[in-house]
Amino acid sequence: MATPTLDKADSKPEAGFADSPYITVTLRIRRFNPEISAEAAWEDFQLEIDPKERVLDALHKIKWDQDGSLTFRRSCAHGICGSDAMRINGKNRLACKTLIKDINPEKPITVEAIKGLTVLKDLVVDMEPFFQAYRDVMPFLITKDTNEPTRERLQSAEDRERFDDTTKCILCAACTSSCPVFWNDGQYFGPAAIVNAHRFIFDSRDEAGEQRLEILNDKDGVWRCRTTFNCTDACPRGIEVTKAIQEVKRALITRRF
Ligand code: SF4
Ligand code: FES
Repeated sequence: MATPTLDKADSKPEAGFADSPYITVTLRIRRFNPEISAEAAWEDFQLEIDPKERVLDALHKIKWDQDGSLTFRRSCAHGICGSDAMRINGKNRLACKTLIKDINPEKPITVEAIKGLTVLKDLVVDMEPFFQAYRDVMPFLITKDTNEPTRERLQSAEDRERFDDTTKCILCAACTSSCPVFWNDGQYFGPAAIVNAHRFIFDSRDEAGEQRLEILNDKDGVWRCRTTFNCTDACPRGIEVTKAIQEVKRALITRRF
């Protein structure tokens, strides 16, 4: 039996292919390579891209097609791992959650490393001070039970709701690196550490709330917060970061949580 062939004239282009959606955009990237220069400098890259693609796609295209030395972190590409927070047009965002069409592609799109942490290369910062503050608040369940339960520790829906918002943190550092107090003095624990302390302080199953509150009562703890709301604006998970910080402050005063 003859194999059916498709006449080229009869074949239809894929939807959206006939009118190319591609546009030319300029990404203005803050480059830094300590092996080449002690100074950072802006570099422009032009590329063709579908405006429905993301800034992360644009960075990939530049790295793969134009300059393999461009350095940035990413892993999941879907807003889960928190590794690609960067300043895009002056605002902290996840590159994998930022569509080109949403950030005025008619003008050069600026991309630079998040602030307040040492830049190691291009868009990669040293996250160690950020993760040290996270470790300092003991972000894990602590109980004093000598008899470990053989089944899960039950909790009412109402008690679970109490800290639901702060469970959504993906440790991207967008909040902490948008905080002017953190920029001026990297000793401040920063919003992300407080959010992760909140997640356990208000968990009815946890028994180390007092300890965590004392850690955050430190001179570099919650009282450094100036309620600028930058952190809430920056959070890609929509966490009410400033509200969580306020709740921790209140718990420190009332000792009720
Ligand atoms: S609170 Fe939001 S902005 Fe801050 S680290 Fe967690 S997910 Fe990122
Ligand atoms: S690459 Fe994982 S959050 Fe963007």
